[in-house]
Amino acid sequence: MIKVGFIGAGNMAGAMIKSLISNNFTNSIVASDINEDKLKSLRNELGISTTTNNQEVVDSAEMIVIAVKPQHIDDALSGIKVNEQIMISIAAGIPLSKLLRYVPRAVRVMPNTPALVGEMAGAYAFSEGFNEEEKKLVKEFLGVFGTVFELEEKHIDAVTALSGSGPGFLAYLLQGFLSKAVELGLNKDIAYELCLKTMKGTAELLSRKNLNPEDLIRMVASKGGTTEAGLKVLEEKEVQRILGECLEAAHKRSKELGKN
Ligand SMILES: NC(=O)c1ccc[n+]([C@@H]2O[C@H](COP(=O)([O-])OP(=O)(O)OC[C@H]3O[C@@H](n4cnc5c(N)ncnc54)[C@H](OP(=O)(O)O)[C@@H]3O)[C@@H](O)[C@H]2O)c1
Repeated sequence: MIKVGFIGAGNMAGAMIKSLISNNFTNSIVASDINEDKLKSLRNELGISTTTNNQEVVDSAEMIVIAVKPQHIDDALSGIKVNEQIMISIAAGIPLSKLLRYVPRAVRVMPNTPALVGEMAGAYAFSEGFNEEEKKLVKEFLGVFGTVFELEEKHIDAVTALSGSGPGFLAYLLQGFLSKAVELGLNKDIAYELCLKTMKGTAELLSRKNLNPEDLIRMVASKGGTTEAGLKVLEEKEVQRILGECLEAAHKRSKELGKN
């Protein structure tokens, strides 16, 4: 079984470690953190090895996930020595060029928050220096956490806007529907469950029946009906144009942050 290491043992690392164990990818896992309390809880809960020394993780694992916050990347990587190990960074907005200041080759992943429940949607890009067998291994590894696509790094800013920030945008839409549903007299908890289930069910329906959005809109919006009445408002207010602007702003910001 391949030994997987984590540098940084916070929310993302904890969720990823649980997925690796429950999916039987490996139970040979070592994690480091500057915070001994986080290590203690992972050790007790999941039985993995832990250390406060990042170099020990690098020395004892074949594939290492760098799971510290973007602002801690320099601290976490400076001074560590890496040879053949596969270094995978999940730090949002940190480009390969920055990682390559510290390690000879790297994989940059843009995950999203649903990774915390094993439903990640994202993408990854390789630096130079990986062979086909290693690329296959990385694909299998990331597949444990959800759906990920290998892309050229230039596309990662668009992925950041779409699936990285996407959960925030969808939650915002949900807020809008929810507050009006309560105003219309529905109990808040019931309205919340109905909204959530509607979002999840819509995604499942599109995916499992291989429908495109136009098909689904046609299925739901009968002539003179309620959906048609609501859609008319969305069209008049040019909501699709606004959603486009929202994505454009996130994309622009991702590019700016990547330059720092
Ligand atoms: N959370 C998400 O949903 C999400 C989604 C997409 C991408 N990401 C990315 O995933 C990464 C991890 O996020 P997270 O939410 O898991 O963060 P987190 O919970 O703060 O975990 C990071 C851990 O790294 C520790 N740390 C800081 N400096 C270190 C060092 N030099 N060496 C070793 N450990 C160090 C932190 O300790 P202290 O707490 O004491 O500083 C903390 O325990 C981030 O780069 C983020 O951009 C997260």
